Amino acid sequence: ATALISALILGYVLGSIPFGVILVRMAGAGDLHQIGSGGTGATNVLRTGRKGLAAATLLLDLLKGVLVVFLARSFWPGLEAIAGVAAIVGHCYPIWLRFKGGKGVATLMGVALGLAWPIGAVFAVVWIGVLAITRISSVGGMSAAIAAPIAAQILGYQIYAPALAAMAVVVLWRHRDNIRRLFAGKEPRIGRKKG
Ligand code: G3P
Repeated sequence: ATALISALILGYVLGSIPFGVILVRMAGAGDLHQIGSGGTGATNVLRTGRKGLAAATLLLDLLKGVLVVFLARSFWPGLEAIAGVAAIVGHCYPIWLRFKGGKGVATLMGVALGLAWPIGAVFAVVWIGVLAITRISSVGGMSAAIAAPIAAQILGYQIYAPALAAMAVVVLWRHRDNIRRLFAGKEPRIGRKKG
């Protein structure tokens, strides 16, 4: 029980580090919660017009996902997937920001890569592919999140499928405003001035 609680806390705390908010604040580029969707991830950082900051946010949010899995696996083997779930919850609901965080896509890619790189590879292909076709960040991210547990199931990592399915549920729940906007035809595309 101690190991489980430790793994959950480690995942949550590392996952909740809001790199986007920190970088944007350090650069004096404003308050992410007041910009675009109000989210703290790379997509919303991009709406500040700072591409470098957005790329750094994407990378750091991804790396914290990888780190959580690697640390949990070395300290408490077998608990790396549940620590990954905690990391996604931490990223989406950080206590430091009154539980207003990001939507978990970059961190989920990091967790997927850390659990088994082929799952991460499928995630990346679906994310980049759907994003390239639709130009809508949320559609790319949600598609990749859904693809991850399916990839785990098909590629021989069934052990990770339930945790990845739970992560996908959190990510989709966090996208409910995006889903509403999509049905209303009001979800902004990236690379355009809007929203
Ligand atoms: O990764 C986040 C993306 O899926 C949606 O972000 O800011 O457009 O709601 P946003």
